[in-house]
Amino acid sequence: MQVSPLEYANFCAFLQQSCGISLGQNKQYLVVTRVRRIVRDNKLASLADLTALIQKPSARDIRQQVIDAMTTNETFWFRDNYPFDYLQRVLLPKYQREKTRSVKIWSAACSSGQEPISLNIIVDEYCRKLGGPKPFTVDVVGTDLSSAMLEQAKSGLYDRISITRGLSAERMSQYFEQVDPDTWRAKSSIKDSIQFRTLNLQDSYFLMGKFDIIFCRNVLIYFSQELKLEILRKMHAQLNKNGLLFLGSSESIAGMNDYFEMVDCSPGVAYRAL
Ligand SMILES: C[S@@+](CC[C@H](N)C(=O)[O-])C[C@H]1O[C@@H](n2cnc3c(N)ncnc32)[C@H](O)[C@@H]1O
Repeated sequence: MQVSPLEYANFCAFLQQSCGISLGQNKQYLVVTRVRRIVRDNKLASLADLTALIQKPSARDIRQQVIDAMTTNETFWFRDNYPFDYLQRVLLPKYQREKTRSVKIWSAACSSGQEPISLNIIVDEYCRKLGGPKPFTVDVVGTDLSSAMLEQAKSGLYDRISITRGLSAERMSQYFEQVDPDTWRAKSSIKDSIQFRTLNLQDSYFLMGKFDIIFCRNVLIYFSQELKLEILRKMHAQLNKNGLLFLGSSESIAGMNDYFEMVDCSPGVAYRAL
């Protein structure tokens, strides 16, 4: 499929407007690779046809397929490790000491669910080590723009490759059950309490409520600086006093020093809402 500069520019404008993703220059090859099947399945002749079709209100499903195809959903269990380690070593003991009754955690852009499930595993391990009644309740909310990813997250089903990425054999047997030779399912005890919801990070977060911790990792890198700052401001507004924000290892709050202060969680950092 040949793509002219105008066709590419129009497609990029659609993507930027619908999900905030800034593709930048010269990614025609990436676009073609990702949407070729959708173009073919809908018997369209070009990227221009596809861009025209997905602007129509009636083409909701195809529009969602294009967004699903264009978002990068890479994720794995306990990604970067240090945020989970910090939660287990520092934050949960602090909540317990302070007799906090309820903790709310938001995994924004949670992809296929590995991040919120990893969070629940840490909380479960912590509470089980204590024995006795749980000192607090922890509610984890997972949101994403991609309906396909959210469906997978809700199903809790993972194939042989994704189940092993970052998950120890011990945790796999404790928290997952094998349903067939190539598929594992997260046990209800670790998945059912997670609220999975569709949310475009460009939209309002008002209905999300307030959180003690927000994980917003490996998604801001796809956005313009302007959108990134707007998202960080909105996340700040959803954090309780002293609430913590964790970003991906290549992301930072540059330009938001009036809103957040850095917290050392060696080998990484988090950001405390001011
Ligand atoms: C690379 S994954 C990151 C998953 C997880 N946070 C992690 O760090 O492993 C990026 C996720 O961001 C989601 N995403 C992209 N644009 C978004 C937007 N505008 N609103 C909400 N989610 C978005 C994608 O669907 C994808 O699942």
